[in-house]
Amino acid sequence: MKLKTLFLLLIVAMLSSVTNLNSQDIIPLPQNVNFSNDIFTITPKTKVLYTLGAESKAVMLTEYLSPATGWDFSTKKSNKLKSGSIFLNLDESLKTGDESYEMIVKSKGVEIKSATQAGLFYGIQSLLQLLPSEIYSEKRQKGIQWNVPACKITDSPVYKWRGMMLDVSRYFYDKQYVLKFLDMMAMYKMNVLHFHLIDDAGWRLEIKKYPKLTSIGAWRGEDENRRGGYYTQEDIKEIVAYATERNIDVVPEIEIPAHTLAAISAYPHLSCTEKEHVVPTQHFISRDLYCVGKESTFEFLADVFKEAFSLFPSKYIHIGGDEARYDRWRECPHCQKRKKDLGLKSEAELQVYFNRRVQKMVSKYGKTIVGWDEIIEDGLKEKAVGMVWHNKKKIFKATKMGHDVVMSLTGHTYFDVAESAIPGEVKAATWLKPISLQKAYEWDPMVEGLDEKYRKQVLGGNGCLWSDQFIHGYKLPEIMPLNENRSE
Ligand code: ACM
Ligand code: ZN
Repeated sequence: MKLKTLFLLLIVAMLSSVTNLNSQDIIPLPQNVNFSNDIFTITPKTKVLYTLGAESKAVMLTEYLSPATGWDFSTKKSNKLKSGSIFLNLDESLKTGDESYEMIVKSKGVEIKSATQAGLFYGIQSLLQLLPSEIYSEKRQKGIQWNVPACKITDSPVYKWRGMMLDVSRYFYDKQYVLKFLDMMAMYKMNVLHFHLIDDAGWRLEIKKYPKLTSIGAWRGEDENRRGGYYTQEDIKEIVAYATERNIDVVPEIEIPAHTLAAISAYPHLSCTEKEHVVPTQHFISRDLYCVGKESTFEFLADVFKEAFSLFPSKYIHIGGDEARYDRWRECPHCQKRKKDLGLKSEAELQVYFNRRVQKMVSKYGKTIVGWDEIIEDGLKEKAVGMVWHNKKKIFKATKMGHDVVMSLTGHTYFDVAESAIPGEVKAATWLKPISLQKAYEWDPMVEGLDEKYRKQVLGGNGCLWSDQFIHGYKLPEIMPLNENRSE
């Protein structure tokens, strides 16, 4: 080989190795990443060291690394990085933000430094993403060099609320799936599980005082077509604990006054007409709402919230509030009496009254209500969070009124729709245009035209996994027989 050819090959090899390092993608992209041309290699001898208070994160890291490498790693308290180790340095004196971390990878070892458990956890997530992707395998992967490119990363999130909604009502995802979903969220440093527990098609939360909510409201269809399920209170405790370890706040959504047919099927007195219903096996939005005229509705909700709050420590409670059609309220003597007694002009004002009563009920527990953008109306007495999905004007109204907003726009964050319209694409909901990965990923929840002084009230973004597409399915893989190629 001529010297010149050799030289050229060397240049190409060097360039490609540099490119390789620089193309190590961490999702979401950290604030600052600088790679240098070196590596740290994880071996069976690698130790995980930790400072006081960081032991549980050290153990967690070994649990992440063990299945794919097949090695048991030892952990040990230390106050500095030692050669051949990964050092988790919890330093509460650091003045960095709540979820920030710094990670330095050298050939000698890795140091992840943060003032918080959350920051250490996110450093661990970045470290995992820098390893060969086989690290996520649950089975031992042979013949892999577990190399981490040398780098320095400093990172902190732009937004406080990085949420994903899982609709477990239209389709019941079992506890195991929810835990897996939390793992996927954690990998992308998402920190709010918006748990859509209740809708027309199913009530998924065990409430001991109202057993029919789950003995009736959690099931639909008959005989071999019977589908459903619910989370026991013990399941919920396990889900919340698992989420908490992963810096994820679980915000339950208990819808009022619409999207409640499952509850009404279990307890018909909750509706205006008190007629019997069955939990629907087809996706639709019921016109039967909780009756706002009867005091028994509020007694029921007070009981439900009391049990729910013993399970969900989040400071937020999502009360839905979307898509209420007022036909039943208009025809109901109780609702009309309430409207007249309060001197209200419209049924929309009755919904504000409903929200206010619930707000008062939950604020005794120190909770702030979150609701779809329909709740942002004049008359809410306390601070709330508006989750803006379709009415962008509500961003301006909400922030001006002193509320916070979370952006959950149909065109960007509704993941029940397809990724593209290309033939062969997995079929999905068609009520919206496809949302490409690029469109979702490059979206910034900040709103154009929002006055600077209101910007900090935009807490962040929230993806929505609506599951009415899976309504017929008992288990996700069994949805295939519909022959429509809908997949997990
Ligand atoms: C919604 O999509 N109804 C919030
Ligand atoms: Zn009524």
